Amino acid sequence: MDIEKVGVVGCGLMGSGIAEVAAKAGFDVVVREVSDNLIKAGRSRIRKSLDRAAKRGKLTATDRDAAWSRLRFSTEISDLADRHLVIEAIVEEIGAKNELFSALDGLCGPDTIFASNTSSLKITDMAAATGRPDRVVGLHFFNPVPVMELVEVVRTIATSDAAFNAAYAFAEALGKRPIVAKDNSGFVVNLLLVPYLLDAIRQLERGVASMEDIDRAMTLGLGYPMGPLTLCDFVGIDTVYRISEIMFDEYREGRYAAPSLLKRMVSMGRFGRKNGKGFYDWSGDQPTPLPLFPRR
Ligand code: CAA
Ligand code: NAD
Repeated sequence: MDIEKVGVVGCGLMGSGIAEVAAKAGFDVVVREVSDNLIKAGRSRIRKSLDRAAKRGKLTATDRDAAWSRLRFSTEISDLADRHLVIEAIVEEIGAKNELFSALDGLCGPDTIFASNTSSLKITDMAAATGRPDRVVGLHFFNPVPVMELVEVVRTIATSDAAFNAAYAFAEALGKRPIVAKDNSGFVVNLLLVPYLLDAIRQLERGVASMEDIDRAMTLGLGYPMGPLTLCDFVGIDTVYRISEIMFDEYREGRYAAPSLLKRMVSMGRFGRKNGKGFYDWSGDQPTPLPLFPRR
């Protein structure tokens, strides 16, 4: 299964990074978003990231321009019909993902491999929504995609060796260092990361320490690159919430239950760095903690 033409669905935080690394690695990439405005935002995120890489000497100007020329953007799902691999990075909801894969199933050639970048849903459930369960895999990238080396490559009981090997080789061709994970909700990383993030929010709710001190504890005490509350803002508060709901539904363990504060932040539209406000206010040069509890 030779992969040359790649489709990426969703050009938010993750889709834009996946499209960028695929174009840099020489693949012909079509990115699909739902509106022209979202295409504009996604395009500009990719352009900025490519420019930054060129400025920092990670990429020559010629390679940046070549990568840019390999990217096309569309709101039409039919533009994905000739792709060899389609990776979805849309909202973390099984209904939306199944609807997408079912539409792609009727559109793409029989050899096209479908991959999901899901954080917590099961690939099996998406594979079952298609007529090609043997060609559905998980390719779970990490944020920010251009920097993080890991990709979790996930196969279900139905995935063929050929599709799995092609997906694994694709991750390697991007310069990533893949691992193989079982199709359980959260794979390897999120099974460990999600309870940690939710526990940090519970610590904040209980007043164990201030927001900044909880974050500082983990950066200074354990050498983590970001504290857990900053990381929640970085991943997206809405996404962390959806992941926790899905993992709680799957495992029925309290450690995956969404803390009340997380739910309230979603209701208030505090989605984190992507829309400027989460635990922190991201509008200035430095993130500043936002008040979360009643004050006099
Ligand atoms: N896109 C491209 N490159 C980026 C970038 C971005 N969004 N953000 C940072 N970089 C690059 C910079 O260009 C810089 O490159 P050089 O060193 O080669 O010049 C390098 O990354 C370091 O950047 P900075 O010096 O600006 O900042 P930093 O040292 O604070 O690092 C970070 C930034 C890499 C994001 C680091 O803070 C980090 O690793 N944070 C943790 C990220 C993490 O845990 N990700 C996983 C999230 S969970 C997930 O993804 C799974 C899920 O399903 C939810
Ligand atoms: P995001 O909200 O930044 O982007 C999602 C994008 O998908 C939006 O721009 C939305 O308009 C678009 N979209 C929705 N339905 C679509 C459709 N049918 N066709 C085309 N575009 C559509 O979300 P994100 O953070 O990029 O997350 C995307 C996926 O990646 C989720 O499954 C998430 O769990 C997973 N993931 C997220 C992270 C992270 O750190 N944020 C890390 C790894 C995996």
